[in-house]
Amino acid sequence: MALTAYEDLVHPSPSNPAKTNAQLSADRMRDSTAPMPPAGLPAASEVAPFDQFIAAGYPVGTCGSVDAGPVDAGVDPFAAPAKCTSNSYWFLGNLRSTLMHPGVACVACHSQSLSRPQFAVAGTVYPSAHEPNDCNATLPSGVKVVVMSVAGSTLLTLSPNSVGNFSSTTAVATPFRVKVTYSGRERAMSATVTSGDCNSCHTQTGASNAPGRILLP
Ligand code: HEC
Ligand code: HEC
Repeated sequence: MALTAYEDLVHPSPSNPAKTNAQLSADRMRDSTAPMPPAGLPAASEVAPFDQFIAAGYPVGTCGSVDAGPVDAGVDPFAAPAKCTSNSYWFLGNLRSTLMHPGVACVACHSQSLSRPQFAVAGTVYPSAHEPNDCNATLPSGVKVVVMSVAGSTLLTLSPNSVGNFSSTTAVATPFRVKVTYSGRERAMSATVTSGDCNSCHTQTGASNAPGRILLP
């Protein structure tokens, strides 16, 4: 595929959607059986800056001046590239576990059988805005998902687990409001919610006008 723009680099690779084209490019720059550039592999010292660019979350620099470094104030976090920050994935299918299928719409699947917990609210909080399905989130401790009445009183306070998943079978009246809190900061959904299947809208790219994943504040 042609890699002509920044967006191409940060996009999931068509041949391996678990990696970005940038990650796959770095692999190819070390792959003696399929070298890139084809004439011969670059020196390790030439690949290292590219690895640093990936590890730093694909920062966009400015030409001709020194890079201002990570996250300038006022940058839209939803403009961030697609990536699985933890680089680790759920791969056990429908094995019974609270760690299952991070990022995937929990309720849509669970409602297909009464042998699965019937969640009123369930989803996944991620450290960046466009993480792929089944990517395990890594979060600092103390993140909360707060479900509130339309008037603003707290109905449920849920703690995402070690992969970012949260869920509750306790019934809540719809519509309700929701926010995510961490360390005195919060990200609140301005609209009221009528479905507790958070990941059905908060997909990798965002469905039904959602901007992407439920984001760590
Ligand atoms: C594609 C279908 C599917 C998706 C998506 C899915 N699950 Fe499940 N889940 C299942 C099935 C099937 C079971 C029951 C497995 C069994 O009984 O062996 C289950 C069981 C569970 C259980 C019960 C575990 C236990 O120890 O009793 C929890 C908790 C759970 N899922 C949480 C979630 C969460 C949270 C999400 C979303 C982030 C999710 N699941 C997404 C299919 C799914
Ligand atoms: C029907 C689709 C839909 C569902 C279901 C949904 N959301 Fe949203 N969410 C949106 C849309 C659209 C926005 C952006 C507009 C807004 O804030 O109202 C949004 C925004 C948000 C934001 C703020 C975004 C930001 O700036 O970080 C948070 C947090 C959020 N949702 C959390 C949740 C949680 C938690 C759930 C599950 C209880 C949920 N959402 C369910 C569509 C949805």
